Amino acid sequence: MNTVQAPIPDTTPLTGINADEALWYKDAVIYQVNVKSFLDSNDDGIGDFKGLTLKLEYIRDLGVNTIWLMPFYPSPLKDDGYDIADYQNVHPQFGTLDDFRTMLREAHRLGLKVVTELIINHTSDQHPWFQAARNAPAGSPQRDFYVWSDTDQKYLDTRIIFTDTETSNWTWDPVAKAYYWHRFFSHQPDLNFDNPQVIKAVLKIMNFWLDMGVDGFRLDAIPYLVEREGTNNENLRETHAVIKKLRAAIDASYKNRFLLAEANQWPEDVREYFGDGDECNMAYHFPLMPRIYMAIAQEDRYPIIEIIQQTPDIPESCQWAIFLRNHDELTLEMVTSKERDYMYTTYASDLQARINLGIRRRLAPLMENNLDRIKLMNSLLLSMPGSPILYYGDEIGMGDNFFIGDRNGVRTPMQWSPDRNAGFSRADPQRLYLPPIMDAVYGYLSTNVEAQSRDPSSLLSWTKRLLAVRKTTQAFGRGTRRFLRPGNRKILAYLREFGEDTILCVANLSRSAQPVELNLAAYKGRVPVEMLGRTAFPPIGELPYLLTISAYGFYWFRLATDAAIPSWHEQIVSVDERPVLVLFDGWMSLFRERVVPWRIGIAEKTRAQFETDTLPRH
Ligand code: NOJ
Ligand code: CA
Repeated sequence: MNTVQAPIPDTTPLTGINADEALWYKDAVIYQVNVKSFLDSNDDGIGDFKGLTLKLEYIRDLGVNTIWLMPFYPSPLKDDGYDIADYQNVHPQFGTLDDFRTMLREAHRLGLKVVTELIINHTSDQHPWFQAARNAPAGSPQRDFYVWSDTDQKYLDTRIIFTDTETSNWTWDPVAKAYYWHRFFSHQPDLNFDNPQVIKAVLKIMNFWLDMGVDGFRLDAIPYLVEREGTNNENLRETHAVIKKLRAAIDASYKNRFLLAEANQWPEDVREYFGDGDECNMAYHFPLMPRIYMAIAQEDRYPIIEIIQQTPDIPESCQWAIFLRNHDELTLEMVTSKERDYMYTTYASDLQARINLGIRRRLAPLMENNLDRIKLMNSLLLSMPGSPILYYGDEIGMGDNFFIGDRNGVRTPMQWSPDRNAGFSRADPQRLYLPPIMDAVYGYLSTNVEAQSRDPSSLLSWTKRLLAVRKTTQAFGRGTRRFLRPGNRKILAYLREFGEDTILCVANLSRSAQPVELNLAAYKGRVPVEMLGRTAFPPIGELPYLLTISAYGFYWFRLATDAAIPSWHEQIVSVDERPVLVLFDGWMSLFRERVVPWRIGIAEKTRAQFETDTLPRH
């Protein structure tokens, strides 16, 4: 148990082993799991903690070092658990608190950190706090846990997030005889962070899980904690003040934990969630994600470079969390309306694939199952600045089913094998919480872990290899980033540097082979070593470095100072292209007339005879 320990002030010099341990999240590769979707241990059709525990080795062997668990608390599950009815327990569908503890212990034993959800902007309307509030008199401490109004005409400058289902951020409660405020579904009333009792209650919840050993929290919907008339009620100073309190409480009592901000905002607004290193340790880079998709569709690096350039620097102790897909729709809130139209036309021509301001599809179908494009996307995810998050199932190229409502189409059972129910559960197929993907391309008969584990060229095997390579340097997690500007805009090239390591990443965003000339003058004399195959390339010289890259291809090079120049590089003609001297009758024939020097064609023709003549006879 980790109870009161020395605080780690943010001013601690970031050197030495302790500092490194505190900054573990900078080297994190996170695997996002939904407990209900992973493995069903008791055959009731719903994944559970015992099932997850059985699969921890799979997660470890993938090569990630951190698990992010989606909500598993008691809940009516009207928003897949983001509607909490009890913060300090486990939904019986998923097991017990003891099952959670066992899973956590086992994860730690395997070297995996565990991050859970801290959903404090709102509760379920079934939470006892809300039930007490609606029944308590107006103005009472219980009523004050939530945000109430006599009119629904307050805070009118606030946008609606779930545009497909909600028409107002206020809902009338006939019991309280007042409107309550909610930024999400109407069954998710927002807590009132102007009430110190609410903050006290949140700190208690945090301590409960931190004492158990949880390594960090994803702060769900964090920009919306506090409301003020005349504002858009997002990113308010008062909201930041609350986050600072949560962070101070963690630093005062625990070591090596983190807060991850889910703030779907523009980069300059997200920057505020890091504070001066005294708010969140990490924050998602929401605007980068759709621009990676745009760049590959437009075959142009510009969208990526532009958004990264708009991204302010963050404090030394902080880190971006980057991702390609997750359990929600591929959000298009942080793009212009023109860009949104482009994304919709390109990636969601079927209107059913659209929900709210986004696209409810997984990575593989978005890439039209083109393995080279999927790999390219993953190579960008694993090499751009930040700690990458992989969404369960994307490592095998799982598909989606947008006909099953809300965002459930990307939350279907993990596909372990071609067995019944994808090897996820032995329940009657009709009992499953959701049907597994069954179509001919992405269905579990063809797309599953078992098959891909046996196939060295599968997406799964490749993903493991790429993750293993990423681990060989800290430059990807911690290094600086500098874009190169080759004339060919279909190529995205950047350098990641940390300590002695300089990594050059070059990606061809286009569907055809591309040449590129890179200005690497500053690295003259270094030998680029391709990291997946460990192949040494010719050294960097005076001229721009010329590369050709296949369609959707990419390279990660270590610009080595200690690697040998490839031996073939200095030779004018390669060994097997040298002229062949044919001696028909042993070496003495060299001095006879029939010698046919340097006649390759004839040499080929007579090789058999040559070998018979010259091989020792027994
Ligand atoms: C963000 C979560 O990712 C999403 O799934 C949820 O519906 C909302 N927050 C509300 O909690
Ligand atoms: Ca179960």
